[in-house]
Amino acid sequence: MTEYADTLEQAELGRGGPLVGVQGLGCMGMSEFYGDTDEPAARETLEAALDAGVTLFDTADVYGRGRNEEFLAPFVAAHRDGITLATKFAMERNDDPAYRGVRNDRAYVRASVEGSLRRLGVDVIDLYYMHRRDPAVPFAESVGAMAELVREGKVRHLGLSEVTGAELREAHAVHPIAALQSEWSLFSRDVERSAVAAAAELGVAFVPYSPLGRGFLTGAFADASAELSRDDFRRHQPRFTGDNAKANAALLDPVREIARELGATPAQIALAWVQQRAAVHGLTVVPIPGTRRAERLRENVAAARITLTPAQLALLEPIAAQVAGDRYPDMTFTSAAREE
Ligand SMILES: NC(=O)c1ccc[n+]([C@@H]2O[C@H](COP(=O)([O-])OP(=O)(O)OC[C@H]3O[C@@H](n4cnc5c(N)ncnc54)[C@H](OP(=O)(O)O)[C@@H]3O)[C@@H](O)[C@H]2O)c1
Repeated sequence: MTEYADTLEQAELGRGGPLVGVQGLGCMGMSEFYGDTDEPAARETLEAALDAGVTLFDTADVYGRGRNEEFLAPFVAAHRDGITLATKFAMERNDDPAYRGVRNDRAYVRASVEGSLRRLGVDVIDLYYMHRRDPAVPFAESVGAMAELVREGKVRHLGLSEVTGAELREAHAVHPIAALQSEWSLFSRDVERSAVAAAAELGVAFVPYSPLGRGFLTGAFADASAELSRDDFRRHQPRFTGDNAKANAALLDPVREIARELGATPAQIALAWVQQRAAVHGLTVVPIPGTRRAERLRENVAAARITLTPAQLALLEPIAAQVAGDRYPDMTFTSAAREE
């Protein structure tokens, strides 16, 4: 065990749900999207996470078109009882790298779970998320089909991603939802319009994805559009491109300043912020920063030691409203597009 193991507290993932370390690990970048992958380093990162008290591991059938689930299978087999395994369905891909379809119908749910169980090498998934909502399919059908999987023992708990507060309430009435996974960070706060309050009221845990703003909040970029490799998916994200990239880099000055004050890194400040922001709402939060490097994993977990002062929080407060560019090229892909 590393020195961090004692520092990571545990939280309940939804009322009566599993206890997990208050920070999870996003595994997406281990197989796709953020430039080169390095399998040995990624495997080392998984083990370092477990040593540090991280128990929630996040993947999806769409990451690497199944490769991320397959990559995780040996780790899952070695530590099955010590981890909470989360995966997702609902996004369809084809040979066009930019294409994303959304499927929520019952037949798709039932076929998808079988694929994930096979690739992960397990007979039950701890937390099964609907990755995106197709508003044409009622929750009675989509969450109804997910509830069937719980009854059949293929899935233990249900989650949703990128739904509004009203949608969360509607889905929760069909079957209890353990976790809501949506983007939430110093750069992306649209979930605070309705989803955060609904999750707090219903006892649904919030799992902020991209809590480091897809790496932007670590201070890694001065001009992201010029610095990212050609195959990096972020080259197509509005916040990382053209003039937006430079304007957004300048927004990190207060993050850097607070990091210096506390002897911390900008990544740690971003992670501490999301924990404290959730506490304001009385919400259980388990962010899932993604990293492929053990050293960064330990750095991120150590953010749990940081408490930001009211003055520091006030310095960070205006950042999100000033961010240039949407968080996706097509915002209909997000819950924000369906907020009243
Ligand atoms: N539900 C959804 O729709 C959805 C969407 C996106 C992501 N997710 C999930 O959320 C997870 C996290 O989101 P994300 O990976 O998009 O973004 P993120 O966690 O905000 O940022 C990840 C990026 O930050 C870098 N990084 C991590 N820790 C760092 C540190 N301490 N110092 C410097 N750089 C650091 C990583 O690079 P290295 O790997 O090189 O360290 C990677 O490029 C994903 O892995 C995925 O499981 C879900």
